[in-house]
Amino acid sequence: MKLDIYLADLFVLYQKLHVIHWNITGRQFKAFHAFTEDLYDEVHAKFDTVAEIYRMKEKFPPSKIKDYLDKSTLKETPANRAFGIDEATEIIIGDLEAMRELALEVRKEHEKDDDFVVVNEIEDHVADYDKHLWFMRATLAKENK
Ligand SMILES: [Fe+2]
Repeated sequence: MKLDIYLADLFVLYQKLHVIHWNITGRQFKAFHAFTEDLYDEVHAKFDTVAEIYRMKEKFPPSKIKDYLDKSTLKETPANRAFGIDEATEIIIGDLEAMRELALEVRKEHEKDDDFVVVNEIEDHVADYDKHLWFMRATLAKENK
């Protein structure tokens, strides 16, 4: 089920955003450090909500860290060095694009069964990813002078 992969990706993304939050360097450090904190809080809220949807359906969400690592499609971030803002932004854009794409697949899978709990939740996620992708792409864009 795609939702299992999506839950695993939210878990891994939550940790990846921490690595960037901790190891970011550069002139926009303060803003980027705060931004990644807001983002990992949001990703954690999504992770929790998706897991609770399993319980609403009287199922158990995948919960073992090993299972998340096995299922996740996101590549882990090197954790032993600093990141510049541009590199970190590119990593986050890649991950949010992957999350958006997977969210659309999850939506499609659950739409077939009229599973509106998942469909409605996931549609909000896609809107959030779009907003963050706009922010991140604008961060990378060269300034008009
Ligand atoms: Fe922090």
